[in-house]
Amino acid sequence: MTYHPARAVIDHAAIRHNVTRLREVAPAADVMAVVKADAYGHGLVPVARTALAAGATWLGVAQLGEALALRAAGVQAPLLTWLYSPGAPLGEAVEAGLDVSVSAPWALAELAEAARRTGTPARVHLKVDTGMSRGGVTPADLPALARAAAALVAEGVVDVVGVWSHLARADEPDEGTTGVQLARFHDAVRAVEGAGLAPRLRHLAASSAIFTAPATHLDLVRPGLALYGLSPIPDLADAATLGLRPAMRLEADAILVKDVDTATPVSYGHTYVTDAATRLAVLPVGYGDGIPRHASNRGPVLLGGRRVRVAGRVCMDQVVVDLGPGSDVAAGTTAVLFGDGTDGAPTAQDWADAAGTISYEIVSRLGDRVPRVHVNVREDADG
Ligand SMILES: Cc1ncc(COP(=O)(O)O)c(C=O)c1O
Repeated sequence: MTYHPARAVIDHAAIRHNVTRLREVAPAADVMAVVKADAYGHGLVPVARTALAAGATWLGVAQLGEALALRAAGVQAPLLTWLYSPGAPLGEAVEAGLDVSVSAPWALAELAEAARRTGTPARVHLKVDTGMSRGGVTPADLPALARAAAALVAEGVVDVVGVWSHLARADEPDEGTTGVQLARFHDAVRAVEGAGLAPRLRHLAASSAIFTAPATHLDLVRPGLALYGLSPIPDLADAATLGLRPAMRLEADAILVKDVDTATPVSYGHTYVTDAATRLAVLPVGYGDGIPRHASNRGPVLLGGRRVRVAGRVCMDQVVVDLGPGSDVAAGTTAVLFGDGTDGAPTAQDWADAAGTISYEIVSRLGDRVPRVHVNVREDADG
């Protein structure tokens, strides 16, 4: 059964527009479309195909399983994956022609072993921790890792395709950390080359640095959020100012409307009480679908041509909104929780502000229960 009273409409024309825009902002770099976490909730395979057709030449995902899912769907583009633990099925990764990030000696050794076993050289991107203290080998440990990689290149089991790192504070352009990380990154590339390696790709910038730090563009940029049309620097510029178009529109059909008296308490805990006789509408989405409970009493909604807000607590499957007196909204009327911001509807950024979080979390947490409806998909989208 495909019926569901809510949906996320994914506009592939917006994704194509955003890829074009990102290429314009980073003209000297290739684009790796970051499609991890189900393409930030937008749909892994369809988004990957559209991004590639629009001019991205690489794909990036966090989990090995996400990369293998893309290959299983027939997507053959260059594809980098970076999260796995010791004992991961790296033979499958190597045979699938994946590029695999390496941050530690054990990872290099396991990849080399997988390459020997399968007879296929492993494609490696050495990841350097230039200041995020998350993934990546420390600059102190890099020379030894690079020497070990060089020995494996000489053996013919490893191809060091790239060197990469990730920025911690690129959304704060005047703050200074990005410059420090960039300088450490250039040092790291020199150390890798000093070990006799010749990586072809250096990459550092995700969405915020694409807009705030052109010196970090290097050979390849790795946009995630901006691909989906959301601003990575909402305190500095909104999506429209950056030339981006939000691709996801979350709609829910009112399943019930009712007129209630003034002083009517609403939802669990009665944290909302009507201040006049009013009409309430019940929408069939809740925190079980990824609607943040932190947006209780705050989350904005466009319904019946008016901006209204969530009344009371967000429940697991439902929210109530207060339409105000005199509303003619009926059951079945479609509410827009967020869209591209051009029609008076709130945006994912508005929901992030209402919930005290970031727009990344609003879109990527949207649950599987909400069907994705893909529109403006072009026939020539390939992979
Ligand atoms: C290593 C890496 N590169 C690129 C990205 C894309 O980041 P953004 O969505 O800010 O563009 C991410 C996402 O967190 C990431 O972890």
